[in-house]
Amino acid sequence: MSEAKIEAWLDEDRAFAPSAEFTAQANAQSSIYEDADADPVAWWRRQADRLTWASEPTTSLEWNLPNATWFADGTLNASVSCVDVHVKEGRGDRVAYHWVGDAEGESRTITYRELLGEVCRTANALIELGVKKGDRVAVYMPMIPEAIFTMLAVVRLGAIHSVVFGGFSAEALASRILDSDCRFVVTADGAFRRGAASPLKPAVDEALKSCPDVSAVLVVQRTHEDVDWVEGRDHWWHDVVDHQSDVHEAQAFPAETTMFIMYTSGTTAKPKGIFHTTAGYLTQVATTYNYVFDVKPETDVCWTAADIGWITGHSYIVYGPLINGVTQIMYEGLPDSGGRDRWWKIISQYQVTILYTAPTTIRTLMKWGHQIPAAFDLTSLRLLGTVGEPINPEAWMWYRMNVGGNRCPIVDTWWQTETGAIICSPLPGISSTKPGAAMRSLPGISVAVVDDSGKEVGNGEGGYLVITAPWPSMTRGIWGDPDRFLETYWSRFPGKYFAGDGAKLDADGDLWLLGRVDDVMNISGHRLSTTEVEHALVGHPAVAEAAVVGASDETTGQAIVAFVTLKLSVGETEQDHARVIEELRAHVANTISPIAKPRQIILTPDLPKTRSGKIMRRLLRDVAENRSLGDVTTLTDPTVVNMIAGLMDTHATSED
Ligand code: PRX
Repeated sequence: MSEAKIEAWLDEDRAFAPSAEFTAQANAQSSIYEDADADPVAWWRRQADRLTWASEPTTSLEWNLPNATWFADGTLNASVSCVDVHVKEGRGDRVAYHWVGDAEGESRTITYRELLGEVCRTANALIELGVKKGDRVAVYMPMIPEAIFTMLAVVRLGAIHSVVFGGFSAEALASRILDSDCRFVVTADGAFRRGAASPLKPAVDEALKSCPDVSAVLVVQRTHEDVDWVEGRDHWWHDVVDHQSDVHEAQAFPAETTMFIMYTSGTTAKPKGIFHTTAGYLTQVATTYNYVFDVKPETDVCWTAADIGWITGHSYIVYGPLINGVTQIMYEGLPDSGGRDRWWKIISQYQVTILYTAPTTIRTLMKWGHQIPAAFDLTSLRLLGTVGEPINPEAWMWYRMNVGGNRCPIVDTWWQTETGAIICSPLPGISSTKPGAAMRSLPGISVAVVDDSGKEVGNGEGGYLVITAPWPSMTRGIWGDPDRFLETYWSRFPGKYFAGDGAKLDADGDLWLLGRVDDVMNISGHRLSTTEVEHALVGHPAVAEAAVVGASDETTGQAIVAFVTLKLSVGETEQDHARVIEELRAHVANTISPIAKPRQIILTPDLPKTRSGKIMRRLLRDVAENRSLGDVTTLTDPTVVNMIAGLMDTHATSED
């Protein structure tokens, strides 16, 4: 469907009724909301039967704001619920993962039985390296099966994984290792991206210079590039794992055993170590995966196109799908590895039925043109999902028409690292869908949109999204910082969880998410704080002061625009400035990650500040988005803003 047709369709402001294909046989039935509303805690307790318990819980929720426990007196092993149970119950020959490599033709199929063997071998190897219950293990890996074996092996031992996205810098990796005192690192020599080897081990080596307590590094040989080696500390995966026994007797742990830490950006420069515990998390990822994606484990081939370095990968590539016993695609490459038609090739080759991805990727595929997917048979698809940022109606419609053949429902799923699992989404077979709306909260979850004073808004009005009652997969806190946990999420609206997102209810009472209301940016679905990037910029010797804003961007949702004042010594010529801008962009990429590289850096002699000395980011955002400037009366020097607006016009935008 062309973009002009999409525009015309959107003008009519329609909603899609639940598709007939789903209404009769969907996993979730319309009584589900009533059942859950009648007694949400009891409803979640029934959902917890999806797990394989060693001893069943007799308690459900215990709530002492902001601390919740769910099913606390039960015991279980996370990896048994994900893997062993399927083998034990006769599903061992079902494919767990079709792994698809970056290079065309490279693939590996892993059944549930094979997965169990690999997880046991990895667990036995980790024991040999000294990993024990409660230890933290950093995982810095490409999208290869060993990453999943590692995660499952770590939780099998009652240890805690902290997966750090492979795109993060050595410095970012080091700060995460230190914050949670990881003693072990699992990594690879490198990763493949569009056929080229990109190193990982050198970043680990660099990071570990400041992490002396790491005693062992386990390294998968993926790219076969040369790497430095620290004898006694570094171990090749094939030396340590391959010869292990494929049997490991799993022990049961209490339901509230910490499973993993996932670092995410907040509004300060220091990322927060969000941690999740076992049974509540697993219950909600398994339940939401089942109902939101309407999975039929015997027949579906599910593809969550995300990286395991983010929460989406944890919840919907690893834990949720495995508990449901489905067959999945795990793809190593980029959307255009091997050509811009790579995704559609994978979907048609493996007969993918459920596709879950981010709006930023949909917009990229859309930019490449609808003719590309049109050349493939995509009729195996029956459901589409989106996550990570607000989806613009044009991208939603493009997805529905050109990928879903105007046949597949789209579930727009709103959630966060902190919520652990999906919170708001339509349910296939039950809900209507609207291009751009997350519609309502899931059964067993209560959300509201409130105004500044915490009062619920009416239909047609906007405000802040809050979650009004505890839910099983809620984070149990910020690693090592309980005060920050209370302050960040539970103080703005007493008694309610403040998500940091703006939202509105439309005339029908359906929910639309509007993006962050704090200093968190969303760049291609990746969370970054303005302060974190500012911190990196002022860490450069040439920079006196920096202010960063997220400006809207057609493809990436938001893009980073930085306003920087330089120290006098840098030189005044245009070449001096161009050189320093490039240096600063590279510096941010090295300090945080290439995703944090500013799209644009504006050099300015001054920054707009309030009389109390606070940088006025709102004004800078207006400048960056070419909006007319609002009230500038509290500025110390209102002319600064107009001067910066002038500079915006004269500076060329540099984009990668
Ligand atoms: O602003 C919301 C946005 O992503 C934030 C959470 O980011 P992260 O913890 O990295 O988790 C991303 C994957 C779950 C939210 O505060 N967000 C996520 N999903 C949506 C969304 N915004 C609008 N619509 C969504 N479906």
